[in-house]
Amino acid sequence: MNAPLKRPKLALAPASPQFINCHQASAQGPAPDVAHELAEGLNAVAASVAPKYFYDALGSQLFETITQLDEYYPTRTEAGIFDTAYRSIAETVAGAGIKQPCLIDLGAGNCAKAAKLIPYLKPKQYVPVDISADFLRDAAEQVQTTFPALDIVGIGMDFSAELALPPQVQRRDRVFFYPGSSLGNFSPDQALTFLQQMVDPAQGAARGLLLGIDLVKDKTTLEAAYDDALGVTAAFNKNLLRHVNTLLGSDFDVRQWRHLALFNETESRIEMYLQAQRNLMVHWPGGERAFRGGERIHTENSCKYTVASMTALLRRAGFTQISYWTDPKDWFAVFWASV
Ligand code: TRP
Repeated sequence: MNAPLKRPKLALAPASPQFINCHQASAQGPAPDVAHELAEGLNAVAASVAPKYFYDALGSQLFETITQLDEYYPTRTEAGIFDTAYRSIAETVAGAGIKQPCLIDLGAGNCAKAAKLIPYLKPKQYVPVDISADFLRDAAEQVQTTFPALDIVGIGMDFSAELALPPQVQRRDRVFFYPGSSLGNFSPDQALTFLQQMVDPAQGAARGLLLGIDLVKDKTTLEAAYDDALGVTAAFNKNLLRHVNTLLGSDFDVRQWRHLALFNETESRIEMYLQAQRNLMVHWPGGERAFRGGERIHTENSCKYTVASMTALLRRAGFTQISYWTDPKDWFAVFWASV
């Protein structure tokens, strides 16, 4: 242990973020439902692991690297849209009568996108939410350094099943921020249910939603974005097996699996798989599974929308006023939807 450093006291110490961990996991290991969910997915005829298991600390770092890759256009295209639209977005939010927004950042990760938005939206409260709690805690502290007076409530939570926010989150003027095309990782039916929860006064109680979503485009561009030359996306996908090994106590040999990303035009989605390179056995406490060579584990879908199909989905969910901004190539869209 290092001797504690003596630091000069700050005359005006910045507020520190509150942090609420809504995970059920204890120091003894994962909640039994995590092990159950993983085992059930692995035992299914068409095996799958839910995409939320990508995001352990290493997975979150690998994802950050993906966002910097040449092939992965969504992040920089979305950033380009925001850069030209911040003022227009802030005016649109104010125009909806939202005066003291509570900015709820879903899947906040490193909080970098919100940090750029905050000076324009001037939220009263900032609520970053992420499943990767430790990663988020550090990020929230960084945001607090940049905005010392901002009320920050960080939440470590899996919001994919239910959007249940703790009482520390301001009730009025809630604006959800859901960038990065993460809504596309739900099926359209699940996305509808999720948006309905967001609108429901007894749940999300949203006044508005700022959503970033990837649009349909040619197959080559889409598939390259999810299978880059450096193999970072492959590493990200395979890291899920490492994470599952830690959570479930399984013995996946990561080297025996290959990354696949295929655009399904009928379903308008990128499908991501891990494919067994030869016949394999995987064991875990209380279970096992044989995989034939070529057999796949489904890990993620990334649904691609058109402006029309997303507008329709937002309306079905209960949003009434809808605007959007796109990039010059119409590759990506940022939607504002208010209730
Ligand atoms: N929301 C991102 C997307 O669908 C997530 C993502 C990007 C992703 N690359 C990935 C998920 C690779 C799994 C594998 O674009």
